[in-house]
Amino acid sequence: MRIGIVLGSVREGRAGEPVANWVLERARTHGGADVEFIDVKSFGLPVFDGAYLPAMADKKYDDPAVQAWSDAVDACDAFVIVTPEYNHSVPGGLKNAVDHLGGEWLGKPVAFVGYGADGAVRAVEHWRQIFGNFDAKAIRAQLSINIFAEMTENGFVPNERRAGELDALLDSLIAAVG
Ligand SMILES: Cc1cc2nc3c(=O)[nH]c(=O)nc-3n(C[C@H](O)[C@H](O)[C@H](O)COP(=O)(O)O)c2cc1C
Repeated sequence: MRIGIVLGSVREGRAGEPVANWVLERARTHGGADVEFIDVKSFGLPVFDGAYLPAMADKKYDDPAVQAWSDAVDACDAFVIVTPEYNHSVPGGLKNAVDHLGGEWLGKPVAFVGYGADGAVRAVEHWRQIFGNFDAKAIRAQLSINIFAEMTENGFVPNERRAGELDALLDSLIAAVG
């Protein structure tokens, strides 16, 4: 079983990087699945403007960047999406990346680690709707990281209860893959 940890911010100087690295390390020591780091920014995806429907593309794309992204997602059985909240919703760069694909997401469990002023709870609720289109099982457990309390001058310092929350999230995610 392979879990993809998806770093969703593509912004210069993104706060999401230390959050995703913490999730990655903890997921690796948690055990029960292989863990893959998937940095959306590293693929350099264009804005989706295809004349085709990704759901009908059979996971084959002319653009090598999109094909690499497709292969990375397709190789995973489940995902932890590390997401900020932009304007009370999902970040556009990650939504664009998700829109590029179809069958690669289909039916795979997905869990969310949100970070923001209010823990990105609105973004995560929107992601739950979006991934519903892929028949994905969205895991109830989520992390709602408060950037004011947990992003300090010393970097990302997770609240003491986050490790237990993440372990519970990973247990549910792994169980959902079956
Ligand atoms: C375009 C934009 C919109 C934002 N909107 C929200 C918001 O609605 N709610 C929130 O809690 N934070 C919001 N923020 C602040 C982000 O939580 C903060 O900048 C965070 O560092 C973003 O994650 P990133 O640095 O990994 O991209 C916004 C930031 C940007 C750049």
